[in-house]
Amino acid sequence: QQLLIPKNKSLPPVVFHYIPWFGSAAYYGMDPYKFMFECRDKYGDVFTFILLGRRMTVALGPKGNNLSLGGKTSHVSAEDAYTHLTTPVFGKGVVYDCPNEMLMQQKKFIKHGLTTEALESYAELMTEETRAWFKDSLKVTKESGPKTVEVIKVMAELIVLTASRTLQGKEVRAGMSARFAHLLEDLDKGFTPINFMFPNLPLPSYRRRDRAQKEMSDFYLSIMEKRRSGEHDHEHDMIAALQGSQYRNGVPLTDRDIAHMMIAILMAGQHTSSATSSWILLNLANNQDVQDKLYREQVELFGNADGTFRDMSYEDTKNMPVMDACIRETLRLHAPIHSIYRAVKQDIVVPQSLSAPSESGQYIIPKGNFIVAAPGVSQMDPRIWDNATTWRPERWLEVGGVAKAANEQYMAGEKVDYGFGAVSKGTESPYQPFGAGRHRCVGEQFAYLQLSEIVGLMVRDFKLTLGTKAFPATNYNSMIVLPEVGLVTFTARK
Ligand code: HEM
Repeated sequence: QQLLIPKNKSLPPVVFHYIPWFGSAAYYGMDPYKFMFECRDKYGDVFTFILLGRRMTVALGPKGNNLSLGGKTSHVSAEDAYTHLTTPVFGKGVVYDCPNEMLMQQKKFIKHGLTTEALESYAELMTEETRAWFKDSLKVTKESGPKTVEVIKVMAELIVLTASRTLQGKEVRAGMSARFAHLLEDLDKGFTPINFMFPNLPLPSYRRRDRAQKEMSDFYLSIMEKRRSGEHDHEHDMIAALQGSQYRNGVPLTDRDIAHMMIAILMAGQHTSSATSSWILLNLANNQDVQDKLYREQVELFGNADGTFRDMSYEDTKNMPVMDACIRETLRLHAPIHSIYRAVKQDIVVPQSLSAPSESGQYIIPKGNFIVAAPGVSQMDPRIWDNATTWRPERWLEVGGVAKAANEQYMAGEKVDYGFGAVSKGTESPYQPFGAGRHRCVGEQFAYLQLSEIVGLMVRDFKLTLGTKAFPATNYNSMIVLPEVGLVTFTARK
């Protein structure tokens, strides 16, 4: 490779490792952020590490994020990076198992299912589901006394219930039997870092994943058939929004395409939102003052004279500054996705330093490497944020609190709008929990609605405290960043 590099350019430095093929797999896998911050100190913003035979080039900071997320499709490809992981789980013909141009249109179809009108109706359904879950599952009352739960387990349950009742439709909610939960579990077990690294192992979990994919897909097909035959009522959910959609060339989505897109949506929202809601609850339990502020916000905005509360509409959830700050801050510190990968299709030339104007020459990131964006690194960068690793939602409420001078310097004089909203948009940004560019998340508004409803209803009824002495450590072993052992105690408010 070195022989093909022009004189004034070089390959990015390779992170030191002892075992050639294995490379930095253990360190990166155990704590990707610690690994990347340390590598940045040693090698700069751009470096390559070896991950089980793959050459992964990390580009850090807002400009590094831009390189991956704002890269042209002729240079970087998400489908080449992910299809071996996602296609066996979602199914064929959608997302990364089709040309990027088709994915872009599929995302438009999904957006049509997330109109303001749809979100408004989802708000009501989420309230109903959450209240029913408090009663039937959580079962914490003034009489029962406090109850300590493993937060990730209970939030996974509530997220799947609220998402299935809204996006996925009432038949899926009604079918949330043990069988559906079992299928979801088998799909999950096929969506791990092992599956990413080794697409075809002769393991039982791979076979179970394939069987679960087929059964789940058939389940959605039968719903669509029954709706068409009039056996089931027409609903305003994602299945309904997708049925009848057609690509620009006039080719309609088939029922099978829709079934596969529904699985993709289920998988995309389930773990990201259950992880985020778990981290929010843990942080609230660990910060009683913020919890009190959040409770007072609920009382001020929705409290009735008799001590009861009125329901939150979708519109309401967009005007809850403390809640908004808690969600934003949680996503800053606990972004569910720590690394975003793209396959490099054509050599990419980058400045050696991405954080300051540099005369120091350029690197070539060669075709065949993967390029890694880690928005979480700039989200926790002490050069950008005050008290970068402290969960402090107030920072989002203080005007100009985010854009401190060091940040502007860091951005090398480039104008970046740090106002709310704009902060998570452009591809060159220090805050991108939902990604950016053509692959940006389409579920952000849905996720904010779901998190606001669930957390809002929880703080109204319960006081949360940590169920462990210390705040839980982070577990990076799955595709999503989770708390290690996250216990939260729920006590009914007086
Ligand atoms: C893409 C995060 C919830 C559907 C993404 C990406 C991120 C992300 C970082 C970009 C991935 C990449 O560039 O490779 C999150 C977070 C969520 C969340 C943090 C919740 C807190 C949801 C929900 C849905 C969803 C609820 C469905 C309703 C999607 C889809 C994509 C996506 C369809 C596009 C994939 C692509 O274009 O390659 N999400 N997501 N997400 N997300 Fe989400």
